[in-house]
Amino acid sequence: MPITESIPDLTQAAKQLRETIALHDYAYYVMDAPQISDAQYDELYQQLASLERTHPQLITADSPTQRVGAQPLAQFASVTHRVPMFSLDNAFSQADLLDFERRIQERLNTTDTIVYSAEPKMDGLAISLRYQNGQLTQAATRGDGSVGEEVTTNVRTIKSVPLALMGTGWPDVLEVRGEVFMSKQTFNELNQQQLQKGLKPFANPRNAAAGTLRQLDPKIVAQRHLSLYLYGWGEISGEITSKALDTNADDWNMPATYTALMQQFKAWGLPTNPDAQQVEGAAGMQRYYDALHAKRSTMPYEIDGIVYKVDWLAHHAILGFTAKAPRWAVARKFPAEEVWTPLLDIEIQVGRTGALTPVARLQPVAVGGVVVSNATLHNLDEITRKDVRIGDWVIVRRAGDVIPEVVGPVLSKRSAEAHPFVMPTHCPECGSAVIKEHDKAVFRCSGGLFCPAQRKRALEHFVSRKAMDIQGLGDKLIQQLESAGLVKHPDDLFKLTFEQLIGLERMAEKSAHKVITAINAAKKTTLPRFIYALGIPEVGEVTAKNLANYFKKLDLLMQAPLQTLVQIADVGEIVAHHLVTFFAQPHNLEVINGLLNAGVHWPEIVEVTRPGQNNDSPFAGKNVVLTGTLLHGTREDAKQTLEALGAKVTGSVSAKTDYVIAGEKAGSKRAQADALGIPILSEEEWLTMIGETHG
Ligand code: IVH
Repeated sequence: MPITESIPDLTQAAKQLRETIALHDYAYYVMDAPQISDAQYDELYQQLASLERTHPQLITADSPTQRVGAQPLAQFASVTHRVPMFSLDNAFSQADLLDFERRIQERLNTTDTIVYSAEPKMDGLAISLRYQNGQLTQAATRGDGSVGEEVTTNVRTIKSVPLALMGTGWPDVLEVRGEVFMSKQTFNELNQQQLQKGLKPFANPRNAAAGTLRQLDPKIVAQRHLSLYLYGWGEISGEITSKALDTNADDWNMPATYTALMQQFKAWGLPTNPDAQQVEGAAGMQRYYDALHAKRSTMPYEIDGIVYKVDWLAHHAILGFTAKAPRWAVARKFPAEEVWTPLLDIEIQVGRTGALTPVARLQPVAVGGVVVSNATLHNLDEITRKDVRIGDWVIVRRAGDVIPEVVGPVLSKRSAEAHPFVMPTHCPECGSAVIKEHDKAVFRCSGGLFCPAQRKRALEHFVSRKAMDIQGLGDKLIQQLESAGLVKHPDDLFKLTFEQLIGLERMAEKSAHKVITAINAAKKTTLPRFIYALGIPEVGEVTAKNLANYFKKLDLLMQAPLQTLVQIADVGEIVAHHLVTFFAQPHNLEVINGLLNAGVHWPEIVEVTRPGQNNDSPFAGKNVVLTGTLLHGTREDAKQTLEALGAKVTGSVSAKTDYVIAGEKAGSKRAQADALGIPILSEEEWLTMIGETHG
């Protein structure tokens, strides 16, 4: 450009270039009818860019070069929608649509056939765009319908969104609403790139669109090529607000129909769905449904149904809204998409609790816009009920965001090689025996203490308050210890050294000392706590206590046959079965031995001490109250020991109380006992009575 050109000329030239480029964006993105080649478009763009480079004062906010903001945001601001963003009611069948039509006719007090605007229901996320004096000033996500997030810088990068409205006659304030989505092609390309970069692919185009719109860096958003179609409106000055206040009210009147309004939007350069159509009555809705359903898989973007809206806008005012949705619109959902593919194998996944879940390995197949290669089969009963065999062709279904599922076999395609799945007898993770839970469809690995799949949970349970009560060993630290390879099984905890602990991230010397001290202190425990800490399925605190009281020695419990176990209070066949299997696993025994060798011990439970029965213990059948601070173990420990001896430990002193055991700083309970003449025992005294001496 010659330097002699005057500034007004340059201003005019820049304006012309901006408008020409905006027109070509419109032709390409909104009309889907490009007028020039990509190279010619680039040429125009470069002309404008270089003009702006040499004369930055010519840059305007709505220049196509200004779509991508310079700086990433720190966070999104929230935006309160002046007109709330509603949702839609769903219809799942033609009968639902007939109901919808009948309700509308009733409310409008007419028997006339209703005219609707029908259009695809895009699977993306709702957005509201605010134009003030024709300029895009704000874009906000739907959020909860009342408050969304401001994503203006991101939305500006969407090429089909005009930064300035075209034509004339728009109201001062125009809020338009629509769906931001990602085309199937863009989605596939994006996922290819994600994989190449070693990143997790997006599950579906909707997640990809949502994730993209929530990017803080508009440059990334610009690279991802989002799309948008409008289907609604919010605030319109002179219409929704008072007409008197609006200077443009004379220039523009709300059209009479939704269809006309969308045409008006399009004339202003806004993208609307080219597949929208007027249809008449329930029969018209059905025809549109059939046509779109047939073309669904070949459409360039994912849709999850059809939205029908009463076309006549005057009727919207009469019909109004329910709490969440307009009465003049409905979304007819498509049934979940189904495809056929070979079932290559059924593999087992072991969960945190040891539950075995069969997973179908499928020949990869596209269903509902994503490629599926695994699907859950839930459990063996389901496989049996559906009669799914390895080598079958199976029907795979995916509904919306839901995890893909195997519906059943395609029996007409079953070959002679197809063979039933057999549940493994041993855990694929650790080799321990698999047991079936009685009356349940669940199969479980019995290597609870050893199995790598159950490791973290086993450790968390082991250290928990009612188990070994190792303070300072939270879930986070366990995770760290496990990742560092320092702790695999509970017995490894007792081998931890101070040096190993301070080697961990964010571990100060003081905390490391505390943890080591807590671990050492936990070596002295009680048998019920120890049994509970093993995490045997269905063995809770009470059962652990009953087992300890009955057997008194761990090895007696470990050797007990089923017939003996079922005689114990609270132990049914299921629990007994779990116990026998648990103690039959060599790996579990290794860990138990490891714990005992590390010095885990407990006071011996003396004499026959089944609760409520007479025995030799001075506390059998007695009511005992504990008070004050005990020095040897906690009050809870003392309670467990007393209960093991057949005592009943209560919280308050009464005439029925036989003994009060008072530790240091005992207060009112001691005084009450004194007053009632109830024997008061010191900690030393009661420990001597049960044959435990401390010193
Ligand atoms: S009309 C007042 N039309 O579906 C309600 N919504 O399930 C305005 N959606 O929140 C909604 N395509 O995000 C409408 N053609 C379409 C749509 C559509 C997708 C979304 C929208 C809405 C959700 C309700």
